[in-house]
Amino acid sequence: MATVEEPVPAHGVPRDNPLGTAYGRPPQHPDHALTQVGPGTPMGELMRRYWQPVLASRNVTARPREVRILAEDLIVFRDGEGRPGLLYPRCMHRGTSLLWGHVEADGIRCCYHGWKFSVEGHCLEQPCEPNPHQCRPEHRQPWYPTRDRYGLVWAYMGPPDRRPVLPRWDVLENLTDEEYYQVADASWGSHRDPEGPEVVPYSWLHMNDNIMDPFHVQVLHSTFSVTQFVREFEVMPTCDFEYIDGGVIYRAYRDLEDGREVDRISTWMAPNIMSVPSTMLAAGPSTGMGFVVPVDDTHCRIVGVARFKKGESRQPYRVNGKTWSQMSLEERQDVPNDYEAQAGQGPISLHSEEHLATSDRGIAMQRRALEQNIRRVMEGADPDGVILDPARELVHVPSGNFFRPKQRTPEPA
Ligand code: FES
Ligand SMILES: [Fe+2]
Repeated sequence: MATVEEPVPAHGVPRDNPLGTAYGRPPQHPDHALTQVGPGTPMGELMRRYWQPVLASRNVTARPREVRILAEDLIVFRDGEGRPGLLYPRCMHRGTSLLWGHVEADGIRCCYHGWKFSVEGHCLEQPCEPNPHQCRPEHRQPWYPTRDRYGLVWAYMGPPDRRPVLPRWDVLENLTDEEYYQVADASWGSHRDPEGPEVVPYSWLHMNDNIMDPFHVQVLHSTFSVTQFVREFEVMPTCDFEYIDGGVIYRAYRDLEDGREVDRISTWMAPNIMSVPSTMLAAGPSTGMGFVVPVDDTHCRIVGVARFKKGESRQPYRVNGKTWSQMSLEERQDVPNDYEAQAGQGPISLHSEEHLATSDRGIAMQRRALEQNIRRVMEGADPDGVILDPARELVHVPSGNFFRPKQRTPEPA
């Protein structure tokens, strides 16, 4: 499925350049099959086979709100009965946006002529018509199914007859009375700043690649500037990668000064699901899940949900007391983080000029899995990780930081 095309040299420029100067370099391009997410694109159709988180449940209210997801503009709201609605924005009557509508107990009423639609798009009222309550059944505002779970509103935007179960991930299940779900729907995983941009200006694939990239933790987050997480990450890990049912995991082993080793397991599941264990190296299974939700080809929203003890919460990342949005360009150059590295790849990276190396094995495995799943969907089958049987809704997530006496002889990374 790779879309690497033969590079075409610019007109009149020789291909050979033994000195390697930038002059005459051929035009480059993204891997469109992996980065285009609109309706009808290969990746867009794969993404639409899974439930996607839209916003935190607390941000879906009686005030209608515009939201863009998978290159579709939609209106999200919560009706008076508490049901989340996700509708095509242009009113089916004469096209004004439902952003200007008012929410009632059983739906949203368009501001222009008062047509009212339920969260499933049924037209309930047409007050300017001779029989306001006799709407034709075919008068239905395009809609998507939604659910509330884990403090998030989820949507299924794919073919109705292939609608899967919304999975239950074991690391989020059985919340105790002492815990709560902390939900971040504004790309915390990129800038770790509550004031940072809600949607980040780059392809979803940049963040997705980052999930199976244990080596950047040693460089970007630990030794390039300051220790952004914990000192243990200053050690270059020894890593194994393996396919699991529906995804890929890495195991990053590090020897510790106290004679133990830590086995840090991180999980990626198709198409955009992650469980990165505590970056403060808290021991035990992961406590959260994350989702790299494409907004369109050049923007994504990183959504996360994690269980926390009541009274505890994630704190913004600060350098010299400043959060990401308080830093100047120069200060961010001094201490670049995930946002800088991923936005630095451009709106969509130019995959044709990449040089994947040994340390990119996990990324190559992820992309291969995505390409296989795209093919499966094109051939009429269901992709990995799609659960149709409600009895199989529970998904095991292997992620975590596991400490133990040293067992391995370190190998070069
Ligand atoms: S445009 Fe919405 S009711 Fe007329
Ligand atoms: Fe990172």
